This record gives sequence, C-alpha cells and structure tokens, in this order.
Amino acid sequence: MIAFAKKLTPFKLVILLVCASVTSNAQDATKFPLIPYPNQLVMGSGSFIITSKTPIVIAKEFGREALELNNILQRGLGKPLLLSKVNKSHAIKLIYDASITASETYTLNITQNEVVIRAKDGAGVFHAVETIRQLLPVSVETGMLHKQLTLPAVAIQDQPAYEWRGMHLDVSRHFFSVSYLKKFIDRMALYKMNKLHLHLTDDQGWRIEIKKYPKLTEEGAWRTFNNQDSSCMKRAKDNPDFIIDKEHIIQRGGKTLYGGFYTQQEMKGIVAYATAKHIDIIPEIDMPGHMMAAINSYPFLTCNGENKWGTLFTKPICPCNETTFEFAQNVFSEIMDIFPSKYIHIGGDEVDRTDWGKSDACKALMEREGIKDLPALQSYFINRMEKFFNSKGRKLIGWDEIIEGGISPTAIVMYWRTWVPQAPVKAVKNGNTVIMTPGEPLYFDNQADQYSIYKVYHFNPIPQVLNAEEAKSIIGAQANIWTEQIPSERRADYMYMPRMTALAELLWTNKQDKYDSYLERLVQQYSRMDALKINYRLPDLPNLLNEYAFTDEGKLSITSPLKSLTLRYTTDGTLPDVKSPVLPYPLIIKKTELVKVAAFTPTGTRGDVYSLNYTQQHMLGAVKINPPKAGLACTYYKAYFKETALMKDAKADSVFVSDKIEVPATVKAPSFGITYKGYIDVPADGIYSFYLTCDDGGVLNVGPNVVVNNDGNHSAQERSGQIALKMGAHPFKLDFIEGGGGFTLKLKYSVNGSAPQDVPADWFKN
Ligand code: ACM
Repeated sequence: MIAFAKKLTPFKLVILLVCASVTSNAQDATKFPLIPYPNQLVMGSGSFIITSKTPIVIAKEFGREALELNNILQRGLGKPLLLSKVNKSHAIKLIYDASITASETYTLNITQNEVVIRAKDGAGVFHAVETIRQLLPVSVETGMLHKQLTLPAVAIQDQPAYEWRGMHLDVSRHFFSVSYLKKFIDRMALYKMNKLHLHLTDDQGWRIEIKKYPKLTEEGAWRTFNNQDSSCMKRAKDNPDFIIDKEHIIQRGGKTLYGGFYTQQEMKGIVAYATAKHIDIIPEIDMPGHMMAAINSYPFLTCNGENKWGTLFTKPICPCNETTFEFAQNVFSEIMDIFPSKYIHIGGDEVDRTDWGKSDACKALMEREGIKDLPALQSYFINRMEKFFNSKGRKLIGWDEIIEGGISPTAIVMYWRTWVPQAPVKAVKNGNTVIMTPGEPLYFDNQADQYSIYKVYHFNPIPQVLNAEEAKSIIGAQANIWTEQIPSERRADYMYMPRMTALAELLWTNKQDKYDSYLERLVQQYSRMDALKINYRLPDLPNLLNEYAFTDEGKLSITSPLKSLTLRYTTDGTLPDVKSPVLPYPLIIKKTELVKVAAFTPTGTRGDVYSLNYTQQHMLGAVKINPPKAGLACTYYKAYFKETALMKDAKADSVFVSDKIEVPATVKAPSFGITYKGYIDVPADGIYSFYLTCDDGGVLNVGPNVVVNNDGNHSAQERSGQIALKMGAHPFKLDFIEGGGGFTLKLKYSVNGSAPQDVPADWFKN
C-alpha cells in the first residue's frame, strides 16, 4: 500500500468502501473512460464546476504543472484561470505531499467544493492533470468554448506499475517534422507514457546536426529515393497514407532528394517541450552498424574504406582504430549537450562483423587485448563507449546483441529479438537492467490486425523464468516504430494508435481483468482521438473470414464497431470509396463473387479494406479410408523455403505421425518446413471454417480446395476460409514453413458459425 493511503479521512474511507461495493467495472468504464485506468477509483456524488473564475492554488514546486493544467482549461474556457500561491476556497489545488514516497504517484480528489491533487513530484501532478483532461468533455480538445466545465466527483489513487513506459520512433528511414514530434509527445503524455526513444541515425539518413561533423547532415540527411520509398509509392496507389510527405522532398543540384534533420536548436526545443510533459527523450545514435549515412561522408570510419551492404546489413565502423573512438566520443559529447536524459542509446544491433575479421588493425588489437572473437570485439567497443558515457554521468542502453560478446552489468539492455527468448534472461542474470521491446507484439510497424490490441494488453514484460527479485531488473517496456514503410504522419498515426493505449494501460495499470472495461473505455477514447485529429486505425469489423463458402445463398451480416462509422462495399473488384453503396444488413450473396467492405468515418477516412471471397460450392462428398490409422503423416524438411510449394522438390529429413497441428519440440532448426497429410473425418454435414495462424507461411488444402492460403514469409497472422463438407473423411494437407526468427502455427475450426476451437485429435487420420 502506498504511503498516501494514510491520508484518507475516515469519511473518505467510508465512501471508498461503500462505493467500491456498488460500482461495477462496466459503470466505471462508461462514467470514467480513463486510459490508463487508475489503480483505485471511487466514485463520489455530484460534480465540481470550473469557470474562468475558479482559482488554481499551487505549491511552489508545481508552477510548470499548473501551466499545463491552465493550458488545457483555457482551451475550454477561453481564458486562463488565476494562479494563486495562497489557499482559496472552491479551487483546484496542487499540493506538495512529502508522505507520498513513490515517484510519478498522485491522488486526485474531486468533490463539489474543490479539486485536490497531491503528489511529491511534478510528474505525479502532471499525470493527475492528464487524468483531469480525460475527465473533461472531449470538446475541450477542439477549443470549443464553454461557460463552465464539469468534473465528476471521484477519489483516485494512482501510480505506475513500471517506470519505463516507452515509445520509439525511427526518424531516419523516413523523417518527421518538429511539429509532428510535439504532437507525438502530447499523445504520449495524454496516456501517461514517459520515455520517447528517437532513432536518430541509420543507413538511410542522419537526422541530428553535429557541429564538429557538418557533412553528417549536409550530405547524410539527404538521399535520392530508395527502394523503401518506391515501395511506399506503389502502396500509395491504393492508400494515400503512403504518399511520401512532400515537406521532406527538396531539389538540389538538379536532383530530387528526400530527407531532413533537426538542428541542435530545434532539438533542444523538442526536449524542453517533452520535459514540461515529464517525458524523457532518449537519443539513439546507432553504431557500430547501421552507419552508412555517416560513412558516406567520413569513410575513415571503416576498417577498409569500403561502404556497402554485406549479406544482410551494411558494413560497420571499425572498432580497431582510435579515430573511430574520437569520432564517436565527439558525436556523443554533442548529443549529451542536447539531451539531458540519464540514458543514451548506442544501438549495437545487426552488425556485420566480417570485415573486422579481415582487418590487420583488428587482428593486432585482438592480439594485444586478448579479445577472443568478433562478438567480443564488439563488446570491447561498447564497453569503451560505456565508460565514456559513465564518465559524463550517463547510462548506456544498447539493443540485446550487445550481450553476445559479454557486457558490463551496468549497461542497460533493450530486448527486441523475439526469436532469442533467452536474451533478456541472460542479461538479467548478468546483473543488467532490461527494457522489453520484443518484435512480437511491440513492433508497431507490423501491420495491426484484430488480435494486436489483445496481444499488447496481455503482454507480460517479465519472462516467466525470472523470480520476483530478478523481475525487478525489468524496468518496463516500449513499442518501436520502424518507418521504412511509414512515409507520412497519417501512416504513423495509423500504426501506433490505438495500440499505444493498450501498452499504456499495461505499463501503468497492469491489471489484466480490466481488459473488457478497457475495450469499452477505448470506444469512448475514439471521440477524443477524433477531436485531436489522430488518424487511428479504425476498429476491426468483427468476426470476418477471408474466404466464404455457401451452397444456396450466402449472408454477410456485419455490425459496425462504432456508431459513427458507415460500412460500404463493392462487388466489382474495386476498392470501396465514399460513393460506394452502404452495406445492407444482411447482404445476400447468390453467386460466386468478391465482396470488398470497408468502414468510413464521417470525414471520409477509409479503414482497412476487407476482401471477402464468396464461393458457391456443392457439399464435398466423403472418401473411404481403408483401414483408417490415427493421426496425420508428417514430413519434416530442414531447409529454408520462401513458399510452401517449394517443399515438394526438397529432400525430406524425417517423417512422423501427429494428431495435432504443431511443431514437435525436437525441431530446433531456425528454418524448416513440415507437411501434415492425411484425412480430416468430420462428424456432420456443414459449412466448416478454418483459421490458420502462422509465422511464417502455411497453406491448408481440404479435398481439391485450397481452404486457407497464408503462404510466404511473414510475422504471425491469421487467415481463414470455409468449405462445405459432407459427414466423413476428406483428404487433408497442411503445409507450413518457417524462414527463421521464431515460428507460430495454430489451426482452429468452427462449424455453422460456432466459436473457433482446436480440431479434435480423433478427426485426423491417415
Ligand atoms: C532492431 O530492430 N534492429 C533493433
């Protein structure tokens, strides 16, 4: 229990006990649509009325937070409120309370007579201010003027579950303006996120002015369009959010160039803006890999002067020359002058170390220092840089590869490689502090689907094998947004909203039983996001499949997930637009056709387009199997496949029988393929739906039909399809491939509209 609980008067405690017993989650969700939800919330009676005459009484520590509150209230009332250092009645009071020991912690008590915020630090007060903001009408966000504003009576005690509640933005692959960064910071603050990690440099562009090395931005911030840009341009034909932001395109020397950078002055402004909102900006200068933009202008940084792509990554800078350290230290010295953060990120990911092994300078250094291999050579670089950071009073953060060659326990490890689940455990056991950002589910540049929010909300930052003491080394989590395929602010909005609200609630509230209430509150938050002009991903149309089968007629019945949305459709293969017909309930389908459906906001923004293939079928007749044997006949191929079809020409490694669609625990190869072949013996006639989730690809055939095509190399995604089956056995084949990086394989079925469930083992025969 936190210290301020002692401050509750007996009267307040009575309210707490009585109200807690009568207020259900659902009522709270409707009346208090707060995200993240407070640790304790007790509804009071009545409300507090704010007018332009209501004073704000402030303890001297909280002047900045009072200004933030006043900015919000002024938007709704048209005038700032009076700030007072002396106590007044019917006021909003910001009180310093030394008995509150935890940082970022606050209490907020709203009665008919006053609003009282208590905290020990500015961050606590600021979080209370953002709670007040979410209790105010949404119209305040748009600047609509009100004679008075009403806050519901409530008693809140609140504090975060995790100290690191982070968002990352890659501003290198595509660049984002100062004004967008400020918007991004505002939205983080609204949902109580507190760490903004800026990925400022990469092969595709250097985005921060470094006065000692001006060419880093004069040259390194600009590029001719690359393959990522051309991919965006292609996608822009169907979706305007992929149009590359014109603001970042210039003409220079007869060439069209893409890019941009932040001057030190601009970045100091962004840092100050974030600081006022209690958000710490953590700069990342990614090295020794991902440095092509810098090496282009400063080729002395490599071991052999070459600057090109290796097999997977670009060639890194050379850790065996003192000139490299001089450069790195000079760059980071300027970075530290811009960013006061205790944390500085050095990257350290995806290093192609092969050239180091060929370099005479490296051979000599390794001999001299007793460095046994190339991962250890990378550790030599990181450890030296860490000493430099520490000498300036800063802590080093690196991506989890930094532990490969051994690392000092004082470095902070940022875990991202989902397919190396031991990495955070190893780091914690080594004494390191760890921040969790695993690609699944926290890479928000991955296309969201109907499961993304659930997965983020239910992500557990603490690896199960850690004990309670070790768990303390995990200080939180962060979502990363890599922008290779995100060339505009609208696309960025779409990728991280509303997923960030699920992460915010996980990291602040961390109560999984609030998920249903969270979903209700999220529906209400959409109107705030509309007011803030956030191009969030519209909620999914519920329970849709990719492929439908029907015998006489098909019925498509979709209920809109939000009242404000209109569903429109086409059957001619074109994408629905605002002029397409409104989808009837139900839409009757009488012939084989492709139905494309999308939701539209009142302003005409289109949500994801759903392509629903309707196929008229005859019920597939059963076949005889003689004699039926239990399970499916499976073949394992230990090789890399780009598509499932390529397995048919490959040499089998082993065979086995399985009555489940799963990868045997004995499979350890990073890349492989498995075919599951035999019969599926269904107990009744019906339209059967199959849901195949896989990472990477999978294809399901029943009889002569491809029922689900989820082929290719991709992260875990579900695709689904139907087939009309007569009772009895039908030829069954499921092909699955894993290309590397960790796999997922799940097959579920439903019949005649039942809930999806596992296929019973005794249905599989061979
Ligand atoms: C990373 O995604 N390369 C950290």
